[in-house]
Amino acid sequence: MAERIKINKLLCFDAAVDEVVVKGWVRTRRNSKGFSFIEVNDGSCLKNIQVIADDSLDNYDAIGRLTTGSAVAISGSLAESPGKGQKWEIHAKNIEIISIAPEDYLLQKKRHSDEFLRTIAHLRPRTNKYGAAFRIRSELSYAIHKFFRDRGFRYIHTPILTSSDCEGAGELFQVTTLDMGNVPCVDGKADYSADFFGKEAGLTVSGQLSAEMFALALGDVYTFGPTFRAENSNTSRHVAEFWMIEPEMAFCDLDKDMDIAEKMLKYLTGVVQENCAEDIELFAKFVDKELENTIENILSSDFERISYEEAVQILEKSKKKFEHEINYGKDLQTEHERYLTEKYFKKPVIVYNYPKDIKPFYMRLNDDNRTVAAMDILVPRIGEIVGGSQREERLDMLEARMKEMGMPLEDYRWYLDSRKYGSVPHSGFGLGFERLLMFLTGISNIRDVIPFPRTPKNIEF
Ligand code: 4AD
Ligand code: MG
Repeated sequence: MAERIKINKLLCFDAAVDEVVVKGWVRTRRNSKGFSFIEVNDGSCLKNIQVIADDSLDNYDAIGRLTTGSAVAISGSLAESPGKGQKWEIHAKNIEIISIAPEDYLLQKKRHSDEFLRTIAHLRPRTNKYGAAFRIRSELSYAIHKFFRDRGFRYIHTPILTSSDCEGAGELFQVTTLDMGNVPCVDGKADYSADFFGKEAGLTVSGQLSAEMFALALGDVYTFGPTFRAENSNTSRHVAEFWMIEPEMAFCDLDKDMDIAEKMLKYLTGVVQENCAEDIELFAKFVDKELENTIENILSSDFERISYEEAVQILEKSKKKFEHEINYGKDLQTEHERYLTEKYFKKPVIVYNYPKDIKPFYMRLNDDNRTVAAMDILVPRIGEIVGGSQREERLDMLEARMKEMGMPLEDYRWYLDSRKYGSVPHSGFGLGFERLLMFLTGISNIRDVIPFPRTPKNIEF
């Protein structure tokens, strides 16, 4: 067998074949007597490959003037590198210059701030940090599908255009074809019967309600797609467009729901540790010194599970001064969530059984009549990363709750049908994909883990 030379996961050469081809972008070039040393990166991994061009090449003059950002196709032979910092280098036999980047290219070799790079989000994937982040994003996407597929879940596509606000928080982006300069009105209100769908429509805030219909048909299912929220919160953890993973399991109660969510977080963490080691090393070095500990901590700890009531007691007893006061009946704020997971338990925490009044209509009422079978997973640095629940499967209870909340039952007939015909206990959760990425890379701003972030007053690119 010919010896295989592994440069990185994707780049693997047969040592017996003496010609290799690399197509990529110039990161740096320096000339020395008779030679040009060019660092080329093809995006497949963090490391560049060093290319040595000698002055016998026809286009050596042009090669010697190659600028950062220029695109090249190189063929040559692979040789063990005597230099420091790389094991292999390419001795070029031919360098095709595909395009020259002018000198005003913004990504010259120096460190740029995240804020600056956000203003050139179209170029930032060419930097080490963002290249690594988006390779991890890709690896995790695949791992999510693999996790579910290996466990018999079916992948379903839930609609993006919708007429129902699943979470009931009024954060639907409206979708309309009405002329905003001349909206047809009846009694001073927009007449949606004239609109494209004949009624009010928006972008989905969650695929859950549709996923439930499929869980009650196919068993265990999941969706993984974009969701939209017109939430006017300019924080480092909110974007208006984000991706959510939403499994929905039939014949499943809250305990099993928590088990699966915990298993999934551990699995995905393991995948990143195993498959993205080089990229993770970069984040551990330059972004979050604690990252490797965080990853170990997830893998080795059993997540703490406490009721909302216990959580509130812990927070009330703590001596910490919170910006938002906490007492029974109030929703936990990020500062409370972070205290529980970072300071108190020092590991991920699952908080369950929240008061019904701070949760959406679909959650199952507990026997105490005041809490619902909800669960949130809180992790260090981020706070809430997962929100889920057992669903109210009892038709009479669900209808009563919806009436209590003033919801129009006729709009939800299809949803209620699932409780009327063959209803079963079922549960699910939503994992925020960008929050997961923040957690596993140490990146502190959600705008830096999604290719083109959408936030209030910002829809560039
Ligand atoms: O807790 P949420 O609102 O739950 C639901 O949407 C349920 N329907 C899920 C289900 O049970 N199928 O959102 C779930 C997760 C949050 O825990 C958070 O990680 C993420 O989605 N998330 C956001 N991520 C980024 N930007 C935002 N504006 C987010 N809002 C929620
Ligand atoms: Mg939530």
